[in-house]
Amino acid sequence: MPGVKDRVAVVTGAANGLGREIALLLAREGARVALGDLDAAGLEQTASAITRAGGAAVTVVGDLTDEAPAARLIEAAVERLGGLDILVNNVGGSRNSKVWETSAEDWDFVLRLNLRSTFLCTRAAVARMMPRRYGRIVCMSSGAREGTPWTAYYQGGAAYSAAKAGVHGFVRDVALELAEHGINVNAVAPGPIDTERAGPTLKRLNATVELSPDRMTPLHRLGQPIEVAHAVLFLASEEASYITGHTLAVAGGR
Ligand SMILES: NC(=O)c1ccc[n+]([C@@H]2O[C@H](COP(=O)([O-])OP(=O)(O)OC[C@H]3O[C@@H](n4cnc5c(N)ncnc54)[C@H](O)[C@@H]3O)[C@@H](O)[C@H]2O)c1
Repeated sequence: MPGVKDRVAVVTGAANGLGREIALLLAREGARVALGDLDAAGLEQTASAITRAGGAAVTVVGDLTDEAPAARLIEAAVERLGGLDILVNNVGGSRNSKVWETSAEDWDFVLRLNLRSTFLCTRAAVARMMPRRYGRIVCMSSGAREGTPWTAYYQGGAAYSAAKAGVHGFVRDVALELAEHGINVNAVAPGPIDTERAGPTLKRLNATVELSPDRMTPLHRLGQPIEVAHAVLFLASEEASYITGHTLAVAGGR
């Protein structure tokens, strides 16, 4: 199976959590990777784990909600790795608060972080993919695209849910625009995943929420980062040739 072997992939937010796991898995499966993140030290750790294992990785440090760093990351893939086949728009996150306590600044921050980075990296990437008539774009939505009961009751997450629903809408439209150019655009929507940053809070909620007998998910547990990475790998692979405009839940049955 061709998978992602000898493909060039850009992964955003690759210094930590899901982005790191996705980058490591794509590299293990034979892709050369260009990694972007704000966190220079974390990015270096991901890249050196890949090169130590015999893979190829280049890094770009910068804020991917800004135009210049987003463009630099895409150009690094083209110039230093010889092309661009795959883009994983993983950067995202939240500042949770109840809606009546949410500042306009926090609202803008969350929408910008999740949507502007996705838009800017996609725009720069498709300019390079369209002439080659091949591309796989995988964006990071969330179970929150339809609202998250535990976040809503306990912390408030309306801005995050709005942003992740936005990713789903973005994928639907852009998939149609790019269909005739040979570029497939999909999203993965993780449920609660045990990353270093989100894991501790999610574990506490999973142990205490009383919203259903199944706690947070019917599978009765948090997901592992590798379980999200496998879904991204499939959508990034050549085999996902007849799938576009789809958001795939990786959410333990939620
Ligand atoms: N962990 C979960 O349970 C979960 C569930 C659903 C969706 N998600 C989504 O998956 C993605 C990754 O989540 P995670 O838990 O691994 O997050 P994380 O916070 O552990 O990692 C995010 C990475 O993005 C980087 N980053 C943040 N802002 C940036 C910016 N402006 N420019 C460049 N890099 C930036 C961070 O430095 C970090 O390395 C996000 O889009 C998140 O919303 C996570």
